[in-house]
Amino acid sequence: MIEFKDVFQSFGGRPVLRGLSFNVKDGECFVLMGPSGSGKSTTLLHIVGVYKARRGEVVVQGVDVGKNIDNPDVLVGLRRKIGLVFQGGALVNWLNVYDNVALPLREALELEENEIESRVNDALEKVLLSNDSEKLPSELSGGMRKRVALARALVTRPPLILYDEPTAGLDPAMSAQIARLIVDFSQHGVTSVVVTHDVDCARRVASRIAILSKGKIQVEGDKSLLDGNHPSVLEFLGHPA
Ligand SMILES: Nc1ncnc2c1ncn2[C@@H]1O[C@H](COP(=O)(O)OP(=O)(O)OP(=O)(O)O)[C@@H](O)[C@H]1O
Ligand SMILES: [Mg+2]
Repeated sequence: MIEFKDVFQSFGGRPVLRGLSFNVKDGECFVLMGPSGSGKSTTLLHIVGVYKARRGEVVVQGVDVGKNIDNPDVLVGLRRKIGLVFQGGALVNWLNVYDNVALPLREALELEENEIESRVNDALEKVLLSNDSEKLPSELSGGMRKRVALARALVTRPPLILYDEPTAGLDPAMSAQIARLIVDFSQHGVTSVVVTHDVDCARRVASRIAILSKGKIQVEGDKSLLDGNHPSVLEFLGHPA
């Protein structure tokens, strides 16, 4: 589904990704953790073709993203199959909750208005925002904005969802609810990449966990990785060896 092969990226001469390689298989819930600034959001943006690897290859659903970065047909086609929950939410300020969530349906799919309505309402119900559909983003708490972003990512029912810090800023009960949603989608065949600092969320959702640090995956494994004593895990958790 997703393959990173020896990917390099730098900004203003400062290297961020230095030989990043990993694979995400169909149906997996791959959790990417690592210190702030290690390049996790940057990695997600390579998957949707916002960035082109300076070296190496990023292949997503059979599409070589770097080679097609100037090919809008291919890139738009690929993006339609990916739901992305941005770290900051990235909502459109002048559209209410309902219209923010309806946006990808209106842009991408030719659906009847009643089908749009049923899908949007379904997505809002999943993130417990059914009563807030008329509100503008400025009237929402940070956690609510996050949940709108989540609803918008899942409303097109994409086979692949990328989550950037899906639980940051949410209270424990809401975080657990979001984690349950991620697991639920996973169980329905959605492939997921979850970037998170939230150890609790990682334990709840992960089929595999990888630690990104110093530009590459330092270690990967199943959930038990977080209970082990690999130096990168200890460093990430704030318990250096
Ligand atoms: N478009 C850009 N221009 C310049 N520098 C960038 C750009 N995008 C990312 N960077 C830099 O790349 C590094 C990695 O950023 P990134 O946002 O991927 O980190 P992160 O692992 O997601 O961090 P956090 O956990 O804080 O969200 C940072 O030093 C950041 O300043
Ligand atoms: Mg980030």
